Amino acid sequence: MKLTAGITLAFLAASTVASPTWPTWPPFGGKPKYHKGIPYAEGSKFMLDGKPFLFAGSNAYWLPFINNPSDVRNALTQAKHAGLKVMRTWAFNDKNATYIPGGLPMYGGEGAGESPIYFQSFKDGVATINYGPNGLQALDKVVKIAEETGIKLVMALTNNWADYGGMDVYTVNLGGKYHDDFFHSPKIVNAFKKYTAAVVSRYKDSPAIFAWELSNEPRCGADGTRNLPRSAGTNCSHVMVTDWIADMGKFIKGIDKKHMVTWGGEGEFYEEGNEDWAYAGADGGHFYNELALQEMDFGTFHLYPDWWDKTAEWANKWVADHGKAQVKLNKPVLFEEYGWLHPEDRLAFVNRTVPANQTRVAVIGEWQKIALQYKMSDAYWQLGVCGLSTGCNHNDGFTIYLNNTEESRPLIFQHAKDVAKVNSRL
Ligand SMILES: *[C@@H]1O[C@H](CO)[C@@H](O)[C@H](O)[C@H]1NC(C)=O
Ligand SMILES: *[C@@H]1O[C@H](CO)[C@@H](O)[C@H](O)[C@H]1NC(C)=O
Ligand SMILES: *[C@@H]1O[C@H](CO)[C@@H](O)[C@H](O)[C@H]1NC(C)=O
Ligand SMILES: *[C@@H]1O[C@H](CO)[C@@H](O)[C@H](O)[C@H]1NC(C)=O
Ligand SMILES: *[C@@H]1O[C@H](CO)[C@@H](O)[C@H](O)[C@H]1NC(C)=O
Repeated sequence: MKLTAGITLAFLAASTVASPTWPTWPPFGGKPKYHKGIPYAEGSKFMLDGKPFLFAGSNAYWLPFINNPSDVRNALTQAKHAGLKVMRTWAFNDKNATYIPGGLPMYGGEGAGESPIYFQSFKDGVATINYGPNGLQALDKVVKIAEETGIKLVMALTNNWADYGGMDVYTVNLGGKYHDDFFHSPKIVNAFKKYTAAVVSRYKDSPAIFAWELSNEPRCGADGTRNLPRSAGTNCSHVMVTDWIADMGKFIKGIDKKHMVTWGGEGEFYEEGNEDWAYAGADGGHFYNELALQEMDFGTFHLYPDWWDKTAEWANKWVADHGKAQVKLNKPVLFEEYGWLHPEDRLAFVNRTVPANQTRVAVIGEWQKIALQYKMSDAYWQLGVCGLSTGCNHNDGFTIYLNNTEESRPLIFQHAKDVAKVNSRL
């Protein structure tokens, strides 16, 4: 999601951790069908150790930045006990070595500015990857705790939006002018590949990695205030973005042949003549072409009717239409982020109201039901846990807290059980 509100972070001193090593598989040599503990795709299914792996999951982008291993362990353990199997998090945090007030992109407002953790910094046109204790070693800890907890991680490698730096940090530092220069300027593409290689090679054997994700929500354009502008005309389209996805997918598979790769898009369709932007490829999406790429192991889509000015009925169709794509292309599609606001937040954020019976439990529950009918795995935005050293994690309006049983009983605990039941019959 495009983050709009900050999070409060607390920091503890770092402890050291060695990179994990894992046995190779299979023990008898030959080309492995799969690698022990590492999820893969087979037809329209996710698989794990030879069995179907349909899952309920969630998002916790903040795991690497709280810099507190016991809180990470606590959060992942609570998630696991709730029946959640996969968490999506941020494996990026890019910044300038020196923050220029008023400069672009406007990162830092989301709470990252307060965290000592960052993974890459730019100075005088040179990117430096931070391998230190306040750099990738902090991510090592999250991966290690995920291994120990048995939670799998979707690892996003950059951001379309300004939160935690993302694409525009590369672009402003490497001679680009437009947001979409990220997809084609050779210098920028190479810098992103360099960062990608550093992260992917670090965990290429880890069973904690569910998949590599090129970016959170890659688009031709971004935020009108906090990001660089999109280039004029039709230069950026689904052709440019799809080429970039294919090229990056190939690059990652050259480093890591075990883990899946996806692109992290919101699921925009491209239908000639369709007047609905979400079906017209307005921002460089072409769901069927992207999903069809041999370099992509599965597809993703997101859903925020409140931000998108869409109705609950529209949203139901959006879920079903992605389920149909999973069936048609016989490749898994992950319902990767979704949220529906409380009435008071909706009024405050977007000044809208909806019928009173469209509660979070009713509307989100319906999406989950449809996703499950199509046998799609899902990950709601976002995990809400209490009992951390800082109390509960931040509520951005979409957070579903595990201890808010009115919501969590149907949408998390019962849903995870329903998903497990369907999985056991696959
Ligand atoms: C980052 O650095 C670039 C290059 O000096 C500059 O153009 C940009 O405004 C800076 N942005 C921030 C937020 O510091
Ligand atoms: C348009 O996109 C192509 C790559 O597809 C790129 O080479 C070219 O520089 C872009 N032009 C502008 C004005 O951004
Ligand atoms: C919210 O919308 C109502 C109309 O639906 C309007 O009268 C009001 O001015 C709006 N409030 C804000 C803060 O934009
Ligand atoms: C809300 O009520 C309307 C009509 O009374 C009904 O058509 C609709 O399905 C209900 N929506 C939910 C989410 O229950
Ligand atoms: C969840 O736990 C936190 C902290 O322990 C508490 O402040 C909050 O009221 C609880 N929420 C509910 C719905 O019980």
